[in-house]
Amino acid sequence: MAGVVLVGVQWGDEGKGKITDLLASQFDYVVRFQGGNNAGHTVIYKGTKLQLHLVPSGIMYPQVIPAIGNGCVIDPEVLIKEIEMLNAQDISTDRLLISTNAHLIMPYHKDLDGASERRLGTNEIGTTRRGIGPAYRDKAARLGLRMQDLLDRSIFREKVTAALVETNDVLEKIYGLDPYSVDDITAEFMEYAKILEPHIIELSPVLNDALDSGKNVFFEGAQGTLLDIDHGTYPFVTSSNPTAGGACVGTGVGPTKVARVLGISKAYITRVGSGPFPTELFDADGDTFIDVGHEYGTTTGRKRRAGWYDAVITKYAAQINGLTDLAITKLDVLSAFPTIKICVAYEDARGVRHTTVPGHQSAFHHAKPIYEEMKGWNVDITGARTFEELPQEAQDYIARLEELAGVPVSIIAVGPDREQTIIRRSLI
Ligand code: IMP
Repeated sequence: MAGVVLVGVQWGDEGKGKITDLLASQFDYVVRFQGGNNAGHTVIYKGTKLQLHLVPSGIMYPQVIPAIGNGCVIDPEVLIKEIEMLNAQDISTDRLLISTNAHLIMPYHKDLDGASERRLGTNEIGTTRRGIGPAYRDKAARLGLRMQDLLDRSIFREKVTAALVETNDVLEKIYGLDPYSVDDITAEFMEYAKILEPHIIELSPVLNDALDSGKNVFFEGAQGTLLDIDHGTYPFVTSSNPTAGGACVGTGVGPTKVARVLGISKAYITRVGSGPFPTELFDADGDTFIDVGHEYGTTTGRKRRAGWYDAVITKYAAQINGLTDLAITKLDVLSAFPTIKICVAYEDARGVRHTTVPGHQSAFHHAKPIYEEMKGWNVDITGARTFEELPQEAQDYIARLEELAGVPVSIIAVGPDREQTIIRRSLI
């Protein structure tokens, strides 16, 4: 048996979709374990670009069973649209499994996400406004509705009634928004239930049996380590655990069943939304990352913030996730630079040097990057298919990243296409 967890090392958008798509066909199951439709990636199918936000990309391979774990929050309207979009391309979604315990994003969660961001003003988190935070808040407050509630109209009604007692007050009295009617929501969601019911299943036993019988399971993380609610740059984080431990909690599989943890990191860094970002660039180099790397969000279309690779962050992610392997994506974007910088430490406001992520939020906010410079390669590397085919400078760069992280770089992406990848060490 082999459980392999994939996590983002930085603030999301590391190219996890490409690597998942590349590896998915080797696995029997591909499972999302946290987040919702705040994530997103593009897959190319028969020349058409398809955007997936909720359905794991394993859906593209008929032999793979895609699953959505209990740690996820699901907007049923979005999920159904995605299922319809896939079916319109003749991609069957019959195999899709959804945990009975995954939570539902309700219409009021989306209203509250937007309203709370507006109220925060300049302190806004910069959320995707998909209702993610309010759905996880209701989960923790034990006012959430789960996929299994769709299977019983009277239980669903009872739970919506309980949730709306307070939520309608908040919507009306705090934010001046329209309240919701129990009847309307129940009617709407019972229509969703008709479509989703065949997919809803107790997922944990299915995955455990699969692993026990020697099958391979891929746990597909969304977002990234620094967006983790416990280990990220709180409060500028998402509301779930995108780190490796989240794979266990978010699917009901024990840690002893995870054989490898693959961290995905760009050869530079981007971030969307607010919060600290020590290597962020505001100059022409930053524009080069945006232009050459096409750094605009898949989910929201927002222009990303960009900066040099930060080895301090990778070392932190290696620890938090117990990384066994690294994948470095978008190495080709660095071909644009004559000199390449790597952040190896930070200096705080008092001039003290830190080689680890500072524990205190304001120290991280004020961290100034200390760079090491390496000679760039300045040639097109998109045709390289082996490590040896990379220019010496690119090989040296990768070797330095491995040394700083203490983790081997097993995969290198040199372009957007599936074939534009160098695999140095297989995962199963
Ligand atoms: P939320 O997940 O919509 O609540 O947003 C919280 C923070 O996480 C914001 O800074 C978002 O921009 C960020 N975020 C959420 N999902 C992603 C993602 O898939 N990629 C990058 N950033 C994300």
